[in-house]
Amino acid sequence: MDAPRLLEIKDLAVSVDGKDILHGINLDVKGGETNVVFGPNGSGKTTLMMAIMGFPRYKVTRGKIIFKGKDITHAPLDERARLGIGMSFQRPPVVKGVKTRDMVKACLKARGRTDDIDVLAQKANMAEFLNRDINAGFSGGEMKRSELLQLLAQTPEMVLLDEPESGVDLENIALIGTLINELLQKGCPIHQRRCGGLIITHTGHILDYVNAATGYVLAGGRIISCGSSPLDILDNIKRKGYQECATCPIK
Ligand SMILES: Nc1ncnc2c1ncn2[C@@H]1O[C@H](COP(=O)(O)OP(=O)(O)O)[C@@H](O)[C@H]1O
Ligand SMILES: [Mg+2]
Repeated sequence: MDAPRLLEIKDLAVSVDGKDILHGINLDVKGGETNVVFGPNGSGKTTLMMAIMGFPRYKVTRGKIIFKGKDITHAPLDERARLGIGMSFQRPPVVKGVKTRDMVKACLKARGRTDDIDVLAQKANMAEFLNRDINAGFSGGEMKRSELLQLLAQTPEMVLLDEPESGVDLENIALIGTLINELLQKGCPIHQRRCGGLIITHTGHILDYVNAATGYVLAGGRIISCGSSPLDILDNIKRKGYQECATCPIK
């Protein structure tokens, strides 16, 4: 039997500061499944993530976002986070005056977890960053590890990752991949995995570490192609470019 849909995006149109960016996106993620979104710069990938997470600047002008069967199209961001949606940013913000340790502690507490923060941070190679303000002076790779550490503490059921490998050197991409797989419960047998993932990747490097079920190609605010073999889609993009993907069949 097919796993139930964790996240359903139906005919979603989104505008930012009065500019229409997304024009009718259809996409879904089942529990235990990870899907990827490819697309050139400016195609609307980040807008899609921000709209799913519920940032108020991203206005849904048409369509629906359904999470665990509940219509969250107009739900506030904090309610979506409590329901189990978590996100890592393409360009994570610096949060002056808030120590990374305190954020991790708050995330754990919200989920009723009593983990040892230092042990958790070691997994992300972030132990020595816990007493620094969030992302203040962090390198690209350190920011991405910090984001994943916060997500590990938050224990989301739906993980939205906006270019998790951007700005990360090759050595650290393997660690980023390991952390993502932990978030996505890849260590559990498939039938026990509840968590779903949606990963934006520009380079596709993360696919060397994370298995994905479906790949979507976004261009000009529309899904121009999708298919069940993300690595083949990536190969097509590399050989023929994004626009040629429009001629690939939509599943
Ligand atoms: N606040 C804004 N006002 C106007 N246009 C915006 C705003 N934010 C993003 N855009 C535009 O929306 C388009 C999609 O941006 P984005 O979602 O960041 O794309 P991607 O992540 O695929 O690179 C771009 O053309 C960008 O300039
Ligand atoms: Mg982006």
